[in-house]
Amino acid sequence: MATSKQLQFIASDAMALAVREGLSATPKHLPSWLLYDQIGSELFEQITELPEYYLTRTERCILERYAAEILQQAGPSLTLVELGAGTASKTCILIEELLQRQSRALFYPIDVSPSALDQAVRQLGRQFPSLRVSPIVADYTGGVPALSRISGRKLVLYIGSSIGNFEPPDAVRILRRIRQTLWAGDALLLGADFAKRSKLLLPAYNDSQGITAAFSKNILARLNRELDADFNLDLFCHIALWNRRQSRMEMYLESTTAQTVFIPALDMDLYFEPGERIHTENSYKYTDEMIEVMLRQSGFTLEQSWCDRKKWFGVHLARV
Ligand code: TRP
Repeated sequence: MATSKQLQFIASDAMALAVREGLSATPKHLPSWLLYDQIGSELFEQITELPEYYLTRTERCILERYAAEILQQAGPSLTLVELGAGTASKTCILIEELLQRQSRALFYPIDVSPSALDQAVRQLGRQFPSLRVSPIVADYTGGVPALSRISGRKLVLYIGSSIGNFEPPDAVRILRRIRQTLWAGDALLLGADFAKRSKLLLPAYNDSQGITAAFSKNILARLNRELDADFNLDLFCHIALWNRRQSRMEMYLESTTAQTVFIPALDMDLYFEPGERIHTENSYKYTDEMIEVMLRQSGFTLEQSWCDRKKWFGVHLARV
C-alpha cells in the first residue's frame, strides 16, 4: 500500500492523467503504452513466440531470406538507425549481412527504454566487434532531430509492425517527422502486417494458452499495483475483434458483470455495466495500396516490397 504522499505524487504523473481521462470517457479506453511495464514486456516477448502469433516469426524469416537484397537495394555504405529498437533482436540479421558488405558500420538504436538499449549495446558489442553502437534514448513519435546530424547514407529500420498501433493520421505524422530528419538518398525499411482472413488474425490476438489474455489484463493489474485500484481480474475478459471496414484488430477488456471499481490514487469510483468494454489497442493491417499511400503521404516513395510466400507480412523499402 502506497503512503498518501506517494499517492499524491502518483496522481500527478502522466499515467494518472491518462487513466483519469480514459476511464471517465465514454466509451472507456486506456492508452496502449500502459501495457508495456516490465511484466507486460515479458508477456509480450512470450506472445512473439506463440504458434498463433505469426507476425514476429514471419518478419524474421523475410529478413533472413532477403537481407542481401534489401541492403543491395538500400545502397552502398549504410549507417543503420532503428526506431523502437528494444533489444534489437531481429536487427542482428541485417547487421550481420551489412558487415559482410562493409568492414565497419554505425548503428543508432532509438528507444524510450534505457534498459532495453543497454541490453542491445552489450549484446551487439559482443556479437559484432566492428559495429559502433550509439544508443539514443528518445520517443521517436515526436521525431528525432539528432538524426539530421548523422552523415552518410542512412537506412532507418522501422520493423515489427509497430506502425500499425497508431491511428492512420498519426502514423503519417510520425513518418513525416522522421522523413524531415533524412537526406536525399536515405531510405526507410518498414515492417507491416497484411490484412488477411479473420480466421488467421483472431487466434494471433487471443491464443489458446491465454498468454495474450494475461498480457491484456496486465494493464488492470498494473493499475492495481501502481494506483492501488481494486480491479478483480476474474471479472474482466480479454476480447480481440477484427474490424474489417477499418482494417484493424481491436483489443478490449470486457466487464463480465455489473461492478464498481475504486482507484484511490485518483479518488475515482468507476461503474461498469455488464458487457461494458475498455478499449486498449488497435493493430492496423495493410493492403499494398494502404502501404503505398501512407508512405507517399509521408514524403517517401515505395521502391520495393518483400513478403513471405503466403503474404502474411511485408517488409517495404521506401526512399526519401
Ligand atoms: N504491437 C502488438 C501487435 O499489434 C501488440 C499486441 C499483440 C497486443 N497482442 C496484443 C495488444 C493483445 C493488446 C492485446 O501485434
